[in-house]
Amino acid sequence: MKVNVSEVHTLLYPRPVVLVSCVDSKGKRNIITLAWSMPVSFTPPMVAISVGFQRESYRMIMESGEFVINIPSSELVKEVLLCGTISGRNFDKFREAGLTAASAKKVRAPIITECLAHLECKVEKTIEAGDHMVFIGRVLEAYAEKNFAERRKDVLLYLGEEKFTTL
Ligand SMILES: Cc1cc2nc3c(=O)[nH]c(=O)nc-3n(C[C@H](O)[C@H](O)[C@H](O)COP(=O)(O)O)c2cc1C
Repeated sequence: MKVNVSEVHTLLYPRPVVLVSCVDSKGKRNIITLAWSMPVSFTPPMVAISVGFQRESYRMIMESGEFVINIPSSELVKEVLLCGTISGRNFDKFREAGLTAASAKKVRAPIITECLAHLECKVEKTIEAGDHMVFIGRVLEAYAEKNFAERRKDVLLYLGEEKFTTL
């Protein structure tokens, strides 16, 4: 089967979906749904996220140099879709999605308390990749629910379009 090169990213699905929270210099907070994230270094611990230039979150992360990766369970599928559909330019997504912001330990960006795990990151490097910016973040602090090992099977995996699955 020949695959159209514009659809080639779907061959890399399923991928875990994450909710990235961020804040700008005026203290405005936001959430963006991302399927394009991955670990990139053990020592120091580093992760990469890829954010489209037109996203409000792109502007905010460029400005603050920080972000938090929050891992949602399948119970949050509606919230994940909402945060991946509307823009923080026009909405407070914490309010719209009914998600709770709490202070992070090492960064100004808030964590999303409903999520299973949180990785607080400081941007170390940015790489332009076509129509997205890859933010490479050093993980300054990370924590997860006590029962994360059992909840791992409920982590939301993205299949493209509006389709998700779990383990
Ligand atoms: C499941 C899912 C995965 C997504 N993955 C990405 C991604 O990896 N990178 C990206 O830039 N946008 C991704 N998006 C689109 C953004 O989440 C969407 O454009 C969002 O509304 C941007 O919000 P903002 O303008 O508040 O930053 C995804 C959307 C969904 C629903």
